[in-house]
Amino acid sequence: MCGIVAYVGPKDAAPILLEGLQRLEYRGYDSAGLAVVNAKSLKTRKVKGRVADLAAAVPAKFKGTIGIGHTRWATHGAPSDVNAHPHIDQEQRIAVVHNGIIENADELRRRLEGEGVKFESETDSEVLSQLIGRMVKETESLREAVLRALKSVVGTYGIAVIDEQRPGEIVVARNGSPIVLGLGEKEMFAASDVAALIRYTRQVVHLEDGELAVIKADGFNTFTSDARETAKEPFTVDWDAGHYDNGGYEHYLLKEISEQPDTVARTLRGRIDDRFHIAHLGGLNMDARETRSFRRVKIIGCGSAYYSGQMGAQLIEELARIPADAEPASEFRYRSPVVEPDTLYVAISQSGETYDTLAAVQELKRKGGRVLGIVNTVGSAIARETDGGIYLHAGPEVSVASTKAFISTAVAFALLALHLGRVRDLSPADGRRICEGLRRLPEQIKEILTLEDRIKELAKKYADAPGMMFVGRVRGYPVAREGAQKLKEISYVHAEAYPASELKHGPLALISPELPTVAIVPDDELLDKNLTTLGEIRARHGRILMVGHRTSEAADDCIVVPKNQVELDPILLTIPLQLFAYHAAVALDRDVDRPRNLAKSVTVE
Ligand code: G6P
Repeated sequence: MCGIVAYVGPKDAAPILLEGLQRLEYRGYDSAGLAVVNAKSLKTRKVKGRVADLAAAVPAKFKGTIGIGHTRWATHGAPSDVNAHPHIDQEQRIAVVHNGIIENADELRRRLEGEGVKFESETDSEVLSQLIGRMVKETESLREAVLRALKSVVGTYGIAVIDEQRPGEIVVARNGSPIVLGLGEKEMFAASDVAALIRYTRQVVHLEDGELAVIKADGFNTFTSDARETAKEPFTVDWDAGHYDNGGYEHYLLKEISEQPDTVARTLRGRIDDRFHIAHLGGLNMDARETRSFRRVKIIGCGSAYYSGQMGAQLIEELARIPADAEPASEFRYRSPVVEPDTLYVAISQSGETYDTLAAVQELKRKGGRVLGIVNTVGSAIARETDGGIYLHAGPEVSVASTKAFISTAVAFALLALHLGRVRDLSPADGRRICEGLRRLPEQIKEILTLEDRIKELAKKYADAPGMMFVGRVRGYPVAREGAQKLKEISYVHAEAYPASELKHGPLALISPELPTVAIVPDDELLDKNLTTLGEIRARHGRILMVGHRTSEAADDCIVVPKNQVELDPILLTIPLQLFAYHAAVALDRDVDRPRNLAKSVTVE
């Protein structure tokens, strides 16, 4: 979603801001803009379209050593040059970039219009520049003006503000939308995502909600919305710019699928104890007694994170025998959930920023719930709000559709389930079986990746179907859901996932030669039942692509993956579906890494 970059230092700001905005492109956006100050004169450029269009629109004389940049994902007002950020005030003195939503924007706009202010755009964000513009005239301090303006604002924001009369400082503020400061050599950066900073510095400071900062070339200071100074320790990011390159692959998505043997190995590294057949998860911050005390596990996340949570719930029930279920965080937070002291809550998020998940965590914390996070982005909002958790260490995920983070989350759940199981009733023998299975995953993923050419052929064969059904039973059902999610996200082919057992209770009516089915058929105790389902589809002339551990006459095509332990097989069965969706999307000539209407991190409600 929206992205922010800010720079103050000795260098020319525009190229740095453009480079930063490029790094944020993966988040999804529809317009982009820049503002710089030179000799106490503010210049802005904004365009609907890509960062490359903005770069082309920036004239050579667009000089200034302080500036802010933005990529916008429209919420209030259509994508257009005017609605793009930065927004400036009526006097053309203040420029603001904003992520988030100002909930009382209409009321503030009416008030300001009543005082004679003329608005240019339809956005909620412009009230910020207009408000700060009015305040700065009264206070002649940008810091004071921002503090005062934010007092009348209700909503979420990450903002960066510059004042043409004060070309040495940028004021940033955070409430619900991330802001990180980047510390350079006699220069400072700020952004909504470390991805924008990584080329310049790995020393960062995360702002908390309700915190602001003034950044100058020689340093920064942070303070709260009631003007109390805060002390912040910089933190070193362990990802570098190389992690954000496409590594010679045509798409980030394919790069991220191909990386999975390594990313799974990283998620597992140092966490398997072969002596006691347990998992070491130091980040949980729970002793054995506490770990035993939970009677239920409730998992929340959005999109693919939610489907990986379904896989996790299954693993926890099977290995730890604790009732567990997953729910979309976006639903959970709105239904006034009953929060129980003996339930362990687990929030999942690749980015650690998804607003619905963050809000659900905050609601849980307010009600005294014990919340763990399974998060990829170190130091992100959800990681900081939770009581402990498991980092995925999968490296940055750039493509909008999640692949390696999904798989690493499922692996993290297997570790958590092993951990919860071994402090309860999971036997050492079963513990050993799971540890051995986990260790085999990276090699087996490599083996599945060698099937790419065959999967590509199949994807081409099925890509012209108007829609596809994905079915799986019990362990196979979350696999089917994630497979359908991948296909619809990136190829725009309608895909519906159903428990195989439910097919005859409704969707069987849809089965025809035009609607092929992807069937997840592991070699487990439900194999015969699944094969019966294939027979039912076949009898209605439905085409079937089976993904499992053997071939079957009942299917038109089969993808056979290596077998692991039954509990871990869903992780491996998901991989061919990622490649299938990828090649279907390529065959249909889709924008694979940036599918229409979607954003990587959904930081609004
Ligand atoms: C968006 C993305 C999905 C992703 C979901 C959760 O909707 O388009 O691909 O699964 O957010 O993201 P998170 O960062 O919380 O895992």
